[in-house]
Amino acid sequence: MPLKTGPVTALALLLWGVLACASPSPSWGEGNYPWWSFPPSLPPDEYGNILINRTSEKNGIKAVTFSHWRHRLKFTCRVCHFELEFNFKVNTTEISEAANKAGKFCGAANCHDGKAAFGHDQQPNCDKCHNGNLGYGKEKYGELAKFPKTKLGNEIDWMRAMRRHLFKPVRYFSIVPPEVTYDKTLSLQAEWYNIPPAFFPHKAHIRWLDCNNCHPDIFNIKKKTTKHFSMVLNLKGDFCGVCHLSVAFPMSDCRKCHPDIKDY
Ligand code: HEC
Ligand code: HEC
Ligand code: HEC
Ligand code: HEC
Ligand code: HEC
Repeated sequence: MPLKTGPVTALALLLWGVLACASPSPSWGEGNYPWWSFPPSLPPDEYGNILINRTSEKNGIKAVTFSHWRHRLKFTCRVCHFELEFNFKVNTTEISEAANKAGKFCGAANCHDGKAAFGHDQQPNCDKCHNGNLGYGKEKYGELAKFPKTKLGNEIDWMRAMRRHLFKPVRYFSIVPPEVTYDKTLSLQAEWYNIPPAFFPHKAHIRWLDCNNCHPDIFNIKKKTTKHFSMVLNLKGDFCGVCHLSVAFPMSDCRKCHPDIKDY
């Protein structure tokens, strides 16, 4: 059917055109939302790096450096955050040197046990962890030069790199992941008018994570029943923001979740 444009509509369109050209078009991206605050961005070779300092300095030794990008090349998140029981928040896991030496946490078998990787016995090994340097080991970032790129976070498209088998992280130590192939992609419709939905792909996530990493602590298992699931809370570190603020691609990368957001 041909579009009929009456005089009133034509005038409205003209007015809209003038206004739209006069005001700069909104651009979706970091820093353009006075009502939202994003964490400060880190250089790509430090994104996901943390300093663990729950007990170190109190006991007269420097904080422990830990780099996610260096470790996720070798292990999936589920190995550490499900099997080894590290929490998704720095300084909340009760890691101690005694536990490390007894084969837990960093000292688990296949990890810093003195065989698979340097252990907890003596110097200079202590300083490889206890150096208080957030950027420790970043010269190795150059080894990822061939990985597919993206704009934010580590500037590495981890999903594409994985699909291309550029690295092959270990998926489990002793707790074999269940053979469920739950690959439903959920469309999460925002409550705001005119905002394209966010998509949540189970398939991409279960390559890295265990169902237990998200259900039931972060999300209910029934779609749209997780209460107050909004950008403000995502940006406060709840829900998607548990991972997508500090380790997985950051919240400022709107289109990875809302592919139909324009002008970005
Ligand atoms: C080799 C082990 C290991 C792997 C693999 C790993 N993590 Fe971590 N992660 C840790 C440790 C250790 C901590 C700090 C825990 C603490 O201090 O309580 C941590 C902390 C975190 C935090 C909190 C960061 C902060 O600033 O508070 C998030 C989020 C996180 N990890 C997500 C992930 C995701 C997502 C993956 C997979 C892409 C992953 N981790 C892979 C060991 C690992
Ligand atoms: C593979 C990494 C790693 C190595 C190697 C390592 N540590 Fe630790 N160590 C940790 C982590 C992680 C913690 C928990 C830190 C925190 O929460 O502040 C810790 C905690 C400590 C603490 C705090 C108090 C306690 O007893 O838990 C001391 C002291 C300590 N380590 C000494 C050492 C010494 C000495 C060495 C070398 C002989 C060493 N560590 C080697 C990772 C390591
Ligand atoms: C990691 C995924 C993810 C990223 C990245 C992301 N969002 Fe969202 N966004 C969501 C989810 C999930 C919701 C809630 C949908 C619902 O209501 O169920 C949401 C909701 C919204 C809403 C509706 C208002 C509200 O608070 O619920 C707006 C507006 C929005 N996003 C804009 C953006 C913009 C702009 C960016 C980039 C700066 C962005 N989002 C980045 C996942 C994401
Ligand atoms: C990274 C986090 C994450 C992981 C890992 C995860 N889920 Fe989910 N799941 C979600 C989110 C987000 C929702 C939607 C929640 C909402 O809308 O309230 C959801 C919803 C569901 C639903 C309800 C879907 C519907 O249409 O109502 C089922 C069933 C489910 N997940 C099963 C699983 C299973 C099985 C696994 C492991 C194979 C798994 N999930 C792993 C985040 C996750
Ligand atoms: C427990 C950690 C965790 C939570 C919670 C989480 N994600 Fe993710 N997500 C990841 C990891 C790890 C990846 C792999 C890509 C990366 O690290 O950048 C990923 C990948 C994705 C991708 C795939 C992008 C692609 O390139 O294929 C989308 C889309 C996504 N997440 C959206 C969401 C949304 C929406 C939510 C909230 C409803 C959410 N995620 C919650 C960890 C998480």
